[in-house]
Amino acid sequence: MIARKQIPATEIDKQKEYMRRVRNASKERGAHAYAYVDTYGCQQNEADSEKLRWMLQEMGYELTDDEFKADVIAINTCAIRENAENRALGNVGALIHTKKAKPSQIIAFCGCLAGIPESVEKIRQSYRHVDLVFSPDKLWRFPELLFRTLTAKGRLFDTDVEDGMIAEGLSSHRDNAIKAWLPIMYGCNNYCSYCIVPYVRGRERSRSLDAILEEARTLIAQGYKDITLLGQNVNSYIAEDTLTGFPDLIRKINDIEGDFLIRFMTSHPKDASVDLFRAMAECEKAAKHIHLPFQSGNDRVLGLMNRGYTREGYLNKVAAARGLMPDIVITSDVIVGFPGETEEEFEDTLRLVERARFDAMFTFIYSKRPGTPAAELEDTSTREEKQVRFDRLIDLQNAISEEKHAQYVGKTVRALVDSESHDDRYPLKARTNGGRLVHMLGSAELVGKFVNATITHSNSWSLFGELST
Ligand code: SAH
Ligand code: SF4
Ligand code: F3S
Repeated sequence: MIARKQIPATEIDKQKEYMRRVRNASKERGAHAYAYVDTYGCQQNEADSEKLRWMLQEMGYELTDDEFKADVIAINTCAIRENAENRALGNVGALIHTKKAKPSQIIAFCGCLAGIPESVEKIRQSYRHVDLVFSPDKLWRFPELLFRTLTAKGRLFDTDVEDGMIAEGLSSHRDNAIKAWLPIMYGCNNYCSYCIVPYVRGRERSRSLDAILEEARTLIAQGYKDITLLGQNVNSYIAEDTLTGFPDLIRKINDIEGDFLIRFMTSHPKDASVDLFRAMAECEKAAKHIHLPFQSGNDRVLGLMNRGYTREGYLNKVAAARGLMPDIVITSDVIVGFPGETEEEFEDTLRLVERARFDAMFTFIYSKRPGTPAAELEDTSTREEKQVRFDRLIDLQNAISEEKHAQYVGKTVRALVDSESHDDRYPLKARTNGGRLVHMLGSAELVGKFVNATITHSNSWSLFGELST
């Protein structure tokens, strides 16, 4: 059965035809053509960039990191906070120089910022060297959009965010041969009041079970050892045809033969069920790690954020996960300085962190996103006050992480060596099953292998280890 939200195969074939046409046109020109893809933001964007790179290669482009050499540049942007936006816009602005040096260069602006009408208008008015702008839901049409930009005069904008469909049949160019992103669902229906994602990524939609299992099997056959299932809200995954939910998806991937780990990001606490924890506990290939953003430890603020759970509800989920998996690594995200957050309310956040004892935490200062409900709320604390709260949270979490990491010292853990490092003292980087970074002694032939690492020391951010003898 073909899912309702799937783009018809005939449309994908059309895109493949455009890929052939662009490739033939560049072949006729004779010269080598280069493409550069620059990525901002989350893993979803990384996965999208891997698709763009695959399409560009199919169109005859060689990949480069040199923006002066590139014939096509795609800037895959993030809109989550103002500084992400400023960074992307700053770098796009600087491309005026590369375009001057190479006037035939095509500059494409895509990703989440390209889904915000105000940002698109800014590009239209003030960044006239940008040739092509398209929102995230148009990614699968990139070959056609690029073809039209190459052949037509003038700029091309395709930025009306539609609810979003699923495109199967387009591949990805993955740089890393050990770890792979595997998108399983797209979009978000949660509308947390501070967040821009639902506006730019459209409604939640899940890939079919068959498509995911087939991609997982291919990745495992290719030798990938660490597969991260991706979605803004992975545990609301539901296969439209078979009604398979996320816990069962994990079980089915776990059944695939091979020595590999299954990870996933990101889980929303309201949908993180005991069923999910049970599946994680029972599946030997499921990494014992969950990233479970809590955002605030105060119920009034959680309500204003529209998160759909309370402080106690959140802590109960953490307890349930640990009940089934005593060694589970739990990481989280938190926002400080949400509009109207008082000092006492912030202290509830501190106290939640003390109780939950995360292994690591990402702390963000609230950033106003125009068009979201929270942008209408009155902000009562100053930037300085927010900075003080931010620093207090970081200090607290660093102390907890340090204690948690110290508990590994003297133990031997299984870890996947995923790369060489630039540090001569510790030439390898590895990850534990729970995703903690281990700086390792050892030689390059261990990259891509699971090893037993004895942890010799640690700090707030990572572990240090050697091969167990
Ligand atoms: N879908 C994921 C996270 C997406 S964004 C989830 O819901 O967990 C990653 C993190 O960015 C969020 O968890 C949140 O902590 C932070 N974030 C999102 N919008 C923000 C904003 N307007 N200001 C500051 N931080 C924000
Ligand atoms: Fe944003 Fe909330 Fe959706 Fe995460 S769940 S992407 S924070 S709206
Ligand atoms: Fe940024 Fe879009 Fe991801 S806003 S965090 S790149 S979904």
